[in-house]
Amino acid sequence: MKRTGNSFSGTVTPPRGFNEFEVRTGDKRARINFVYGIQTGGQAPYSYHKPLVDNECATCHEKAWGKSSPTEAAVCYRCHPAMAVMFPYVHGPVAAGKCLVCHDPHGSSLPSLTLKRPRQMCTGCHDQPSTRKHLDSSRSSVCTLCHNPHYGMKRSLLRVTF
Ligand code: HEC
Ligand code: HEC
Ligand code: HEC
Ligand code: HEC
Ligand code: HEC
Repeated sequence: MKRTGNSFSGTVTPPRGFNEFEVRTGDKRARINFVYGIQTGGQAPYSYHKPLVDNECATCHEKAWGKSSPTEAAVCYRCHPAMAVMFPYVHGPVAAGKCLVCHDPHGSSLPSLTLKRPRQMCTGCHDQPSTRKHLDSSRSSVCTLCHNPHYGMKRSLLRVTF
């Protein structure tokens, strides 16, 4: 940190994604939030969720810079069509309104703002003995090739094309 008059300066290399700086003096504090991400050697580019680019933080946050976690699905459904009401079969976490077990609301280096690669995303919850046999035989495949992650017209959330 360097100081010139009332200005402080320094250089940091923030991790990709969402970052927050907090500056404090006495009982006063200020926060600077920013998203950061550039493509570097061989890494997938970080892509932002569209409302972040449009600076629509307030749609999801009561207070623009607040930390309070909004109710997931209700917030998502402000812009995305509600999933649970449209299909006869709805995936457990979707029915429970838990979008953030699979998605990052700000951005991701993986497709579709996901937190993990497709198979890991599924086996994190589906490693029970009853499904392990099926998992073993489908290890080499991407689960979402056959299963829709949200809902389905058929049992087991199978894709219509399957
Ligand atoms: C699509 C909805 C959505 C948008 C748009 C959004 N956020 Fe968030 N944000 C969330 C959710 C949900 C959480 C809680 C994440 C959690 O608990 O894992 C969160 C968490 C945060 C946090 C807490 C730190 C963290 O990473 O958990 C900060 C700070 C934040 N958001 C700032 C912002 C700012 C600034 C913007 C606009 C540039 C923004 N958010 C846009 C949904 C959103
Ligand atoms: C303020 C409106 C808004 C809110 C709220 C919102 N989204 Fe989005 N979302 C968008 C827009 C706009 C797009 C881009 C759609 C397009 O390009 O066709 C998008 C795209 C996406 C995509 C696809 C991204 C991709 O790269 O293919 C996912 C996944 C997603 N949103 C999940 C969520 C989740 C989960 C929530 C709740 C935490 C949420 N969204 C809340 C506006 C919103
Ligand atoms: C079990 C993991 C999982 C959960 C839970 C989940 N998603 Fe997704 N979502 C995915 C995956 C994987 C994709 C990529 C598209 C695909 O494979 O069909 C995706 C794609 C999307 C897209 C963009 C493409 C599309 O299908 O429209 C949106 C928008 C989206 N999800 C919103 C949500 C919302 C809102 C919730 C909560 C109600 C949610 N997701 C819960 C895994 C999940
Ligand atoms: C080649 C297509 C295909 C792939 C890839 C696939 N599945 Fe399946 N899955 C099916 C079919 C077909 C059924 C229905 C089987 C039945 O009803 O007898 C099923 C059923 C299921 C079920 C419900 C029935 C049970 O055994 O509990 C779960 C959970 C499941 N799959 C999870 C997964 C996961 C997790 C992955 C990725 C590791 C995956 N599947 C990959 C085709 C596939
Ligand atoms: C957060 C935990 C969680 C994650 C992550 C998750 N699931 Fe599930 N899944 C559930 C729950 C809960 C059920 C409902 C179980 C029941 O009804 O007995 C379920 C049910 C299913 C079923 C059976 C549906 C039926 O009709 O019998 C399939 C298939 C399935 N999940 C596939 C997937 C795939 C593919 C992924 C990855 C994209 C995934 N799951 C990720 C929790 C999860």
